[in-house]
Amino acid sequence: MDSVRTKLRELKKKHNAVILAHNYQLPEIQDVADFGGDSLGLSLEAAKTTADLIVFCGVYFMAETAKILSPEKTVIIPDKHAGCPMANMITAAQVRELKQRHPGAKVLCYVNSAAAVKAESDVCCTSANALAVARNAFSEQDEIIFIPDQYLAKYTASQLARKFIFWKGYCPTHARILPEHIQAQQRAHPDAEVLAHPECTPAVTALAAKVLSTGGMSRYVQQAAAKEFIIATEKEMVYRLSVDNPRKKFYAATDQAGCPNMKKITLDKLVRALETGREEVIVPAEILPKARRSIEAMLQYTV
Ligand code: 13P
Ligand code: SF4
Repeated sequence: MDSVRTKLRELKKKHNAVILAHNYQLPEIQDVADFGGDSLGLSLEAAKTTADLIVFCGVYFMAETAKILSPEKTVIIPDKHAGCPMANMITAAQVRELKQRHPGAKVLCYVNSAAAVKAESDVCCTSANALAVARNAFSEQDEIIFIPDQYLAKYTASQLARKFIFWKGYCPTHARILPEHIQAQQRAHPDAEVLAHPECTPAVTALAAKVLSTGGMSRYVQQAAAKEFIIATEKEMVYRLSVDNPRKKFYAATDQAGCPNMKKITLDKLVRALETGREEVIVPAEILPKARRSIEAMLQYTV
């Protein structure tokens, strides 16, 4: 491990590179990253970094967002097949159809989507700022087409008296977390507080004390009075929280909620990516400015 760290340090220096890693990455990737966080935190970091090369350890749409925000930089992903199934659940043509069917409605697009889909949207959001964007980016009369995640959309709609139009997308990893998992963990750890990601089903978020993005979970547990937490999101989040809060205890709602695409990024592939400069993330020139407009429109809403 030490020799890998030394090699990574040399390669980063040589290429003036920064390694960004999502909270769902394998522990060994999180450990060598320069910056770790949720989708919003990583987007903000990608927008302000002074590095020439961004090595993105996450899924493809996240690396694409980094490229859109820093088009003059080179962005690489260690495995270009690390996709997000939810992002593939809607196409740009389907967004255009939705807009035709609901003339005048505004499109709010979760960042877990392709660049071409973002380009058809009015404003993006992450799970950290969905509520703030939905509340502040539109007028009270606007109908809001929320794509592609039906569960994040329904959670947001439950918090806000606005007219929403939903799409049928969802995260297969979060859908594996069931109310029974939470209840079993509550029986085993009666003092633990339940934190759920808004990509979970309504039956799961209904059991949570707080519904938070992964970055929101990190901030919340630091100041919470509770000492134990049941974490209803991708299972690696427990690693991040445990390392950052050694005096507190964290239990995954279930070990079955692993995102196979996030795990495609390995240490070997990370080293190879820095050695070879591959795979480079390219966003077509006709899409990039339009996608950038909807991502930038959301960056002012950080919570
Ligand atoms: P966060 O923005 O909360 O990190 O979530 C990203 C994601 O892909 C959740 O599945
Ligand atoms: Fe996509 Fe779900 Fe994996 Fe997040 S956890 S990257 S939404 S499949």
